[in-house]
Amino acid sequence: MPLHRLRGITVGVPEPQVLNDFYEDLGFVGSELGWGPEGSPDQITVAEAPYRQLMEIRVACHDEADLEGIRNRLDGLGVQHATEGGRLIAPDPVNKWRVIVEPTPVADVSPSPRETLNIPGDRPRTGARPRIYTEESLRPPRRLGHVVIGTPDILKSHDFYIQGLGFRISDIVGGLGFFTRCSSDHHNLLLAPGPVPYLNHYAIERDDIDTVMKAASDYLRRNEGTQVAGPGRHMIGGNVFWYLRDPSGNFFEQFTDMDCIVDEEAWEIGEWGVEDSWSIWGEKDQPEVFFNPTDMQELIDGFNRDHG
Ligand SMILES: [Fe+2]
Repeated sequence: MPLHRLRGITVGVPEPQVLNDFYEDLGFVGSELGWGPEGSPDQITVAEAPYRQLMEIRVACHDEADLEGIRNRLDGLGVQHATEGGRLIAPDPVNKWRVIVEPTPVADVSPSPRETLNIPGDRPRTGARPRIYTEESLRPPRRLGHVVIGTPDILKSHDFYIQGLGFRISDIVGGLGFFTRCSSDHHNLLLAPGPVPYLNHYAIERDDIDTVMKAASDYLRRNEGTQVAGPGRHMIGGNVFWYLRDPSGNFFEQFTDMDCIVDEEAWEIGEWGVEDSWSIWGEKDQPEVFFNPTDMQELIDGFNRDHG
């Protein structure tokens, strides 16, 4: 695969400053308008925009040969692109945000310290309380893991991301939802149907189930009315999740323990029904608001005003 990592996204919102306290509170580092884990304070950059929207997706490839391959495939699809400063910039022909592909050394976050868990018959945590209780402060999030987008032309979007840029399909839902990856993560980008292009959610990885549950439940207690969905464990991707709403109205997921695909040949792409594919435990289905956020009309009007 030419791609090996999701590097970041740019989110546009009417009032960028409302996200500064939020990301700091979440445990990201950064400065005005650029946030991420220690060492990568640019995974989520924030820009001013007339309505909330995804403005850019940044992915890593290995080298110039990968870029050349992508350029050739985009040419074959008749998709415009430019190369500036060694980066390929391709305006998404359907969804209108930019995709930037940049040769970047392969890297991963450092491994999380393993929790000492007591299980029946094997109880190594003796005479000690759980780490989530004893640690001084909650461990920060590890990285941006994936984004989910709604798109009015899923097949054309599929062609751009899969055939052009080189994302790989991991699983398919209802014939029209493509879980795709640009790394060994089960998904870094999910293409889902939508009335206009919109950011359905972005997802942030944490160390383990304890840290996801503690971060999400603390946030919910402090920010009444922000519940979206969860906790639960997805069937597709296997990740434990909890979705909440950030102060700009975007849904954000905190997750851990996602399926990992290293042997591409061995992975069998699953075709799932729309029913019975949301969770192994937790609520059976996603709530109505998940694919129909309350500000959807605003997003439709905004997109049509700017691109109609
Ligand atoms: Fe997700």
